[in-house]
Amino acid sequence: MVYMEISLTSLEQAIQTLEQQLDHETELDPQKLNTKYLGKRGLFNELSKQIKDISPKDRKQAGKLLNALKNSLQTKLGNLQLHKAEDWVDLTFPGTLPPQGHLHPVSQAIEEISEIFKKIGFTRARYPEVDWDYYAFGSLNMPPDHPARDEWETFFVDLPADKKMGKIVLTPHTSNGQVREMERLKGKPPIRMINIARCYRRQQDVTHTQMFHQFEGLVVDQGINIQHLKGTLDYFAKEFYGPGTKSRIRPFHFQFTEPSFEVDFSCHLCHGTGLIGGEKCSFCKSGWHEVGGAGMVHPNVLKAGGIDPNKYTGFAFGWGVERTYTLKEGLNIDDIRLLYSEEMRFFEQF
Ligand code: PHE
Repeated sequence: MVYMEISLTSLEQAIQTLEQQLDHETELDPQKLNTKYLGKRGLFNELSKQIKDISPKDRKQAGKLLNALKNSLQTKLGNLQLHKAEDWVDLTFPGTLPPQGHLHPVSQAIEEISEIFKKIGFTRARYPEVDWDYYAFGSLNMPPDHPARDEWETFFVDLPADKKMGKIVLTPHTSNGQVREMERLKGKPPIRMINIARCYRRQQDVTHTQMFHQFEGLVVDQGINIQHLKGTLDYFAKEFYGPGTKSRIRPFHFQFTEPSFEVDFSCHLCHGTGLIGGEKCSFCKSGWHEVGGAGMVHPNVLKAGGIDPNKYTGFAFGWGVERTYTLKEGLNIDDIRLLYSEEMRFFEQF
């Protein structure tokens, strides 16, 4: 039988090569490396098989060398494992993003509303949220003791009244900005204002919060009529709720507009039909949602703002941001106060 003897030197060389191979490994998974080097069919065992080809006189020495190799491999692989457990960083691994917040839904709605009106040339204005009675009521054709004031459940600030301006109030609507805007322009139209601000009313239940937001549009120029109002409402309805949405106005009464209207938008869930799949639309019930008030600016209000009502006319509208927003999202919120709670699970939905 042909007996190929392996010299101790070539075994030593093979051992060295194997050690170097481990030192320059590109495989980084300790588990896989362990199998590759020390596994049953691993490189170490392959090499050990050669011992039978070593001349008997050198076998003892070969055994020692292989033992030393095994120890060295075990140490190195063990170190790798430790390394992985302690401070192993895979720079190619996707990072964990910190949680990202977003604007409060009401702020989102305010931004969107401002943008929509900006496109048709309205200027965003902000007027005091704590203001004189005169701007909230008096200048709006509601002199002191006028019964129409009762509509607005107003908070009065407990301070002495000014002779001309009256008491200080937390504004119950954004209409206080009307005469203020006319005064700002020194009674010289054109006016195209959108006033979005906080309002306060003395009522709190599942559909009301004591603090809420309104947006108020005011347009004054020569020849402004109801068609301009209707066109503006239609434009807003389509921009905010979607192209299929319609608006309608119904006769109503406000002291500061004549004629006055209530404004409805068609329900964008049932497309104004009041029906979804043959069933009554549970969101609107009638095909329409009432959103707020509007009308042609009363001549007395124009006069209060120093504008000649024989020369100029105008329209105004105003309603709640919260309601406008929840309608858009199709949100039947059981309790509107959630919007001003700290219930993160609620806000995370938006
Ligand atoms: N200020 C009225 C309200 O709060 C709404 C309104 C604004 C009506 C402008 C007419 C014109 O109900």
